[in-house]
Amino acid sequence: MIRHLLSAADLDHPQALRVLDTAAELLALADRPIKKLPTLRGRTVVNLFFEDSTRTRISFEAAAKRLSADVITFSAKGSSVSKGESLKDTALTLQALGADAVIVRHQSSGAPHRLATSGWVDGSVINAGDGTHEHPTQALLDAFTLRRHLAGGTGDLDGCRVTIVGDVLHSRVARSNALLLSTLGAEVTLVAPPTLLPVGVQTWPVATSYDLDGSLPKSDAVMMLRVQRERGAAGGFFPSPREYSRRYGIDARRMALLPEHAIVMHPGPMNRGVEITAEVADHPRSVIVEQVANGVAVRMAVLYLLLSGSEGGQDR
Ligand code: NCD
Repeated sequence: MIRHLLSAADLDHPQALRVLDTAAELLALADRPIKKLPTLRGRTVVNLFFEDSTRTRISFEAAAKRLSADVITFSAKGSSVSKGESLKDTALTLQALGADAVIVRHQSSGAPHRLATSGWVDGSVINAGDGTHEHPTQALLDAFTLRRHLAGGTGDLDGCRVTIVGDVLHSRVARSNALLLSTLGAEVTLVAPPTLLPVGVQTWPVATSYDLDGSLPKSDAVMMLRVQRERGAAGGFFPSPREYSRRYGIDARRMALLPEHAIVMHPGPMNRGVEITAEVADHPRSVIVEQVANGVAVRMAVLYLLLSGSEGGQDR
């Protein structure tokens, strides 16, 4: 297995399937009264969160604890980062604690890469979302959820048609999904206003469209993205939130355009009433809560595969 998980592109086809297969085995544990495995006993996992998070942070924490690792959760708010401490000095502090894995979320694209290549920490680095760049474990849990619903839980996603809709420009989820889902054989279409598609999207392994109504009948799954106001998405990219919802939001009428078997996904947090109506978010064919539950099993699989069998900073 690889040592760090920085990008969805770090995983080739067999490695991606190995993570998904391992996660499927681990998910079975969630139904047992005692959910813990001794696999990572004595190992230290640090959650290093410079940016806000609900799902990703708690699910990495639950995943590490279910594998019996010692977990230290660090959030920048309330730490010396707010006194101006640098990423380097924070990393050296973690290194002094003997971290075997550092799970990092940072507002700057490339921060996890810097940690992994700088020599500041010896352990595995896992990218839990860096700026507008990547969020590989989100893509893995999305692939896992798609596989359970559309591919009978095994094999790859050959020919599955996945439509990703909305603020692609600011979305690390969209980029990681485009890479991973295409590795797994899915056909990905991005639907967004032209202003919310990134420069260079032609080089991504996806099709693009501005026409949501035309794309939905050809989709096995639709993944809605949040309009990322904190990254400036509301300022000048579209005329008004109302106009955005009318063109690129999903409501009951649009949901009816999907084939019967299709599922609706969202990585959370949702802006109910902007990219998705409450009716669709809470619909039986929406798998948004299941995505969160699957995230724990997928992150257990990633921690297990990256850390098990390795001692300290050796290559694995
Ligand atoms: C996403 C993120 O943080 O990139 N959320 C998540 O990890 N579940 C998407 C978002 O913030 O909109």
